[in-house]
Amino acid sequence: MYEYKLMCGIVGAVAQRNITEILIKGLQALEYRGYDSAGLAVVDSEGKMTCLRRTGKVQSLADAAKTQPLLGNTGIAHTRWATHGKPSELNAHPHLSTHIAVVHNGIIENYESLRNLLIHRGYNFTSETDTEVIAHLIDWQQRQQGGSLLEVMQPVVAQLSGTYGVVVMDSRDPARLVAARSGSPLVIGCGEGENFIASDELALLKVARRFIYLAEGDLVEMTHSSLSIFDGQGNAVQRAETAPQAQYHAGDKGLYRHYMQKEIHEQPLALQQTLTDRINNGKIDFSELGSDIADRLTNVQHIQIVACGTSYHAGLVARYWFESLAGIPCDVEISSEFRYRQPVVRANSLLITLSQSGETADTLAALRLSKTLGYLASLAICNVAGSSLVRESDMALMTKAGIEIGVASTKAFTTQLAVLLMLVAFMGKKKGRPEAVEHKIVHALQTLPVKITEILTWDNSIANLANNFYDKKHALFIGRGELYPIAMEGALKLKEISYIHAEAYAAGELKHGPLALIDENMPVIVIAPKNSLLEKLKSNIEEIRARGGELSIFTDKAAAFNESKGIKTIQLPQVDDIIAPIFYTVALQLLSYHVALIKKTDVDQPRNLAKSVTVE
Ligand code: AGP
Ligand code: GLU
Repeated sequence: MYEYKLMCGIVGAVAQRNITEILIKGLQALEYRGYDSAGLAVVDSEGKMTCLRRTGKVQSLADAAKTQPLLGNTGIAHTRWATHGKPSELNAHPHLSTHIAVVHNGIIENYESLRNLLIHRGYNFTSETDTEVIAHLIDWQQRQQGGSLLEVMQPVVAQLSGTYGVVVMDSRDPARLVAARSGSPLVIGCGEGENFIASDELALLKVARRFIYLAEGDLVEMTHSSLSIFDGQGNAVQRAETAPQAQYHAGDKGLYRHYMQKEIHEQPLALQQTLTDRINNGKIDFSELGSDIADRLTNVQHIQIVACGTSYHAGLVARYWFESLAGIPCDVEISSEFRYRQPVVRANSLLITLSQSGETADTLAALRLSKTLGYLASLAICNVAGSSLVRESDMALMTKAGIEIGVASTKAFTTQLAVLLMLVAFMGKKKGRPEAVEHKIVHALQTLPVKITEILTWDNSIANLANNFYDKKHALFIGRGELYPIAMEGALKLKEISYIHAEAYAAGELKHGPLALIDENMPVIVIAPKNSLLEKLKSNIEEIRARGGELSIFTDKAAAFNESKGIKTIQLPQVDDIIAPIFYTVALQLLSYHVALIKKTDVDQPRNLAKSVTVE
């Protein structure tokens, strides 16, 4: 099954004032997720519906909206990330059928058979999308059974397979919206005498302070003054209200040129927030987990981490830590592999999912699968409190990075590492490791915000170094030990935002193949602080130099590298080995940011990528 969420956006409103601008502002707050077209439909109290759709940026929709009257107290809006049919005005949402307008996030897997059925019933399709079948199905159902939009939606959703967050409007009943959720998040925002709905609360922060997350299978009917929620069985249910979880508005880049730059520079604060309240008197305090759950962790004999992309790299670092510092065996796997591999579960194994968004389709699927496999418990480490991953896990530890807008993950990664380190100390103690280990970790963590502030002052030197890379087609990142996953993360960042092909290798692996690639056109970036593996790494560096490779070495004074022909060094302050992975990450983030700046790529929204990868 496909799972699909959040690459696109939905906003809906029922109020007693014109809501066009609220819809457009809402879409703009969701823009960073990536989309290819946008549209909205509003209906006034007389039942006059107006629909407007544009390809490209939300701004072109906003500009078009200024040139024609778009009045309505009720409306729905959408940013589309095409799955069925090219990005075009005709394929943009909302999709209409007589009086019905529909916006949809997700994929209707059985759309072909429904489409054929509806064509047979006399419907004309104006788009190539899977979504349009929903509009015609509602219209058909209404003609057959009559009744309210809510009554009609129940049999309609029963005919859909696939994933959807869908919001529907009927111009004959203009003061009402109906929405349904299956595999694609929807959150209701309650204002004063008005109600809103969106795929992400970010879209509603300006108009609502109270939020209600719909659960899987929920159907909701809303007017400006009422809300009725029904579960998948049609029972009326109450869902908990929450305060806003997003910490500031997405539209605020401040003095920074890009969100990624802002987020790199926010890391000292993000780390501080993540550590605060969790370190008390030199000890890790995870009382937020509750005492029962914390006790269950005592029985853990193995840890299985699953994650994707940057979050997977955090897992790889954590494996070194869990085994060396806490003595707990740990495996790490890419979610999309784990979910189809029929993994064998070790006795008393704890499943840890890592995810910035908490909505990554493969990671969620891995979590759901794990529940059938007999893991001791599941723990999510996540940056979004209301996310599906957090809600579906037995326990969660939040990274407190604040919302991350740049597609390239930065502060979410370093805060994941900070939480993982705290967890290593916490679990190590439960497994009988000497207190000194916890002290050592806590001490290193406490220096982190200051050390990261320090490394940010290397921005200019790293910007200079970027001049050696922007015209290269390839780059190789190498490291050893827990800095090898950091080399992987550095390579991913460079690929993502500068479009330079970059690979990472464990330095000891070079002679087993990749050395054949080395020449002056293959720059090699080395992460080489003074640590127990430095001498080994130095030998690997010699192997590269001997073959004419050009090296850029991120290091510290104690490692005693000298610049010479073919060797450039960035000599950074010395840090405790334990936090070196976090520290060196920031240097590599700055490097890829500056290469992207020179290449003038779209730093915050790199081509072909979206912030939450919610398709399988
Ligand atoms: C990071 O820079 C990437 N955009 C991507 O690899 C990301 O880390 C991955 O898609 C996982 O996302 P998640 O942390 O939200 O699950
Ligand atoms: N599958 C639908 C389409 O291609 C919805 C895509 C989206 O979620 O934006 O139009």
